Parts: sequence; structure tokens; C-alpha cells
Amino acid sequence: MAEKQEVVLSGIRPTGRLHYGNYFGAIKQFVELQEQDQLCYYFIADYHALTTAKERVDYFRYTLDMLRTYVACGLDPKKSVIYRQSDLPCTAELNLLLSMISNIGHLERGTTYKDAIAKLPGGNTDGPDGNPISYGLMGYPILMAADILIVQADKVPVGDDQRQHVEMASDMARKFNHRFNCEALKIPQGVSRNALRLPGLDGGTKMGKSENNDLGLLDDPKLVLKKVKTIPTSTDPGPIQGDSDAPADIIPQLAPGLAVIYTLLDLLAPEDVYLDFVGKYRRGEKFYGMLKNTLAEHINDFNAPIIDGFHAEGNNDESVKQFLMENAEKVTPVALDTVENCREAMGIGRSLYRA
Ligand code: TYM
Repeated sequence: MAEKQEVVLSGIRPTGRLHYGNYFGAIKQFVELQEQDQLCYYFIADYHALTTAKERVDYFRYTLDMLRTYVACGLDPKKSVIYRQSDLPCTAELNLLLSMISNIGHLERGTTYKDAIAKLPGGNTDGPDGNPISYGLMGYPILMAADILIVQADKVPVGDDQRQHVEMASDMARKFNHRFNCEALKIPQGVSRNALRLPGLDGGTKMGKSENNDLGLLDDPKLVLKKVKTIPTSTDPGPIQGDSDAPADIIPQLAPGLAVIYTLLDLLAPEDVYLDFVGKYRRGEKFYGMLKNTLAEHINDFNAPIIDGFHAEGNNDESVKQFLMENAEKVTPVALDTVENCREAMGIGRSLYRA
């Protein structure tokens, strides 16, 4: 008998254009896993985008653009089930059921919540209107757990920044099964220890859209050069002493701006090009201008086919809407099954109208 396929699930918020952190942290793995014999669910997390919305944003437009970028990056809606989170509204029902077993103290330790608090002036959570952080944002990890658990996922390919959220999802599944003495939820595996956290172009610890330090997959050559030129290199302490030909990893020893340049070059350029620049650094040559131009060229070579794929004739709003509809239908049965089992396990019984 054939072995059971592993179930893979991951999502990305529709925050505008996809960046290199999204690609090397997540999408690259999505494409690799799709080519293996796995059942892959990839979605656009539009409910999650709402957790930080301060006004109406055209998330649907962003969703369509992101789907077209997914396709341009090699995701195939015939091989992977690609859908929009809000087209699977029973996720919101599972989110509600899981919220009943979620401890507020744990949620307060969630990275998204803590980051939002840290960004408040003076870390102040009790202004005249009370805590400005929404209930929805605090519940971010519960909704994420609902996404993962609803399809009974084994594997969740994400960047390193999402490690804690995936652990919280595993903990919730364990707790649910234990508390209600059932096996309604599968426990997903933890995030790979090789998961990447790509730094930002400003040298910040994480590249992100809201950090405004990102390099986009659809950025054109002019913008790429402008962004690369602004990567700070002035604070670098200078060449590392020692064997000038040693091809050892220099990145951990570099100042943040130069570290992001070498990280990107390592991801994009052939090994000999990368090692040549490692040698130049060790020998203390003056080469930052050339380094930045070379990096910009490699970024443009990487972006060019994605930009072409984004604008390709068959890759348009109508075609992505069509596969969104078809794929939402594919994921719905397994999702409803999970929700019904959870309802049953908790004692409210199965839905009468859905039966
Ligand atoms: P989002 O949109 O913030 O990020 C989407 C994916 O991109 C990865 N990523 C990075 N990886 C490495 N370095 C970076 N600088 C970087 N920036 C972003 C993230 O790790 C993520 O894999 N909460 C999720 C969306 C989500 C989800 C889920 C993911 C909602 N439900 C269920 C998996 C399973 C998020 O981080 O989105």
C-alpha cells in the first residue's frame, strides 16, 4: 500500500508585494515541497492582515497580486491547493473553539503581540482609550493554529520568525486532544532548525514590509540599485585579520549592513563570485561600490523572470480568481471534517444545518 502523503500547509499575509524574506523564508520551500509527493496547502492569510488594519485597505487587490506572484515564482495551482483564508470561513469557527482553551498569559507572550506592544509610545498599554491593541491581534496565534490544524498539517514551512507560532499551534493541538480525550487534531511538526531569518536592507534583524526595509521580488532595476546603494556599509570595522584565502563564513563577523549584502550575495550569486568577494574583504581592498553593483545585477537577474511571469498573459486576475474558487472547494471537506470532530469532542455536537 502506498505510504500516506504528508500534509504541508503555510500562508502569507496580503500586505502588498512579496519580498526576499518571504521568498527565501517560505516560498522557495513551498515550490520544493510541491514537487515532492506531498499534499500542499498554501493560502493568502487575509483574515490575519486585518489584525493590524487601521483603515480600509484593498486586501483583495493585494491578494490577487500576491497570487500572481506565487504563480510567477513557480507555484502551480494544479499541484498545490492554493486558496484564500477567508474562503474557508470554518477556520473562523475553529479559531473560536480553540480560543476556549487558549490561556491569556500564553497569548501575551506571543511575538506578534509583544512586538506590537513594544512599538507603542513608551510601551504604554493603558492610554485613555484603553489598550490600543485589538483582541484580534492578541489572538493572532490562535487563528494561525486554526489554519494549521484545520487541514491536519504535518509540516509548516515558514521563516524563523514564525517558529514560536507553530510551537503554539502544536501545544494547542496537544492540549485540545488531552482535555477532551480525543484525537481530533493532528500535532504538527516543529519548524526546521535551518529556517531562515533574512535581515533587512537597513541592517535590521528582520526584513519586513512594515519595517520598510524590504527588497521586493517585483522591484525594477532602478529601484533595486537605489535600495542596494542605501545599504549602510560605513560602520563596518574593516577586514578580518588572519589567513586571507580562508573561505570560512565571514557573515557573523560583519557589521549589519555588510552582513545583509553578503547574505544576499550568498543566496543569489554563484559560489566563485561570492568567494571572490570574501577574499577581497579579507585582503582589505576597496570594493564596496563594485560589490553593490554586482549584488544589484544578481538581484535583477533573479527578479526578471518573476516580473515577466507576473505579467504573463495567462497569469491574470480572472485566472487566479478561477483557481481560488476551485481550490477553496478542494480544501473545504477536510476542514469541515476537523471542525465537526472538534465540536463533537467538546460536546456541542455536530452542526445540524451542515449535516
Ligand atoms: P507573513 O506574511 O508575515 O510572512 C510570510 C512568510 O514569510 C516569512 N518571512 C521571513 N522569513 C525569513 N526572513 C524574513 N525576514 C521574513 N519575513 C517574512 C515568514 O516566516 C512566513 O513564513 N503569520 C504568518 C502567516 C500565516 C501562517 C499561518 C503561516 C497565517 N497563518 C499558518 C503558516 C501557517 C506570517 O508570518 O505571515
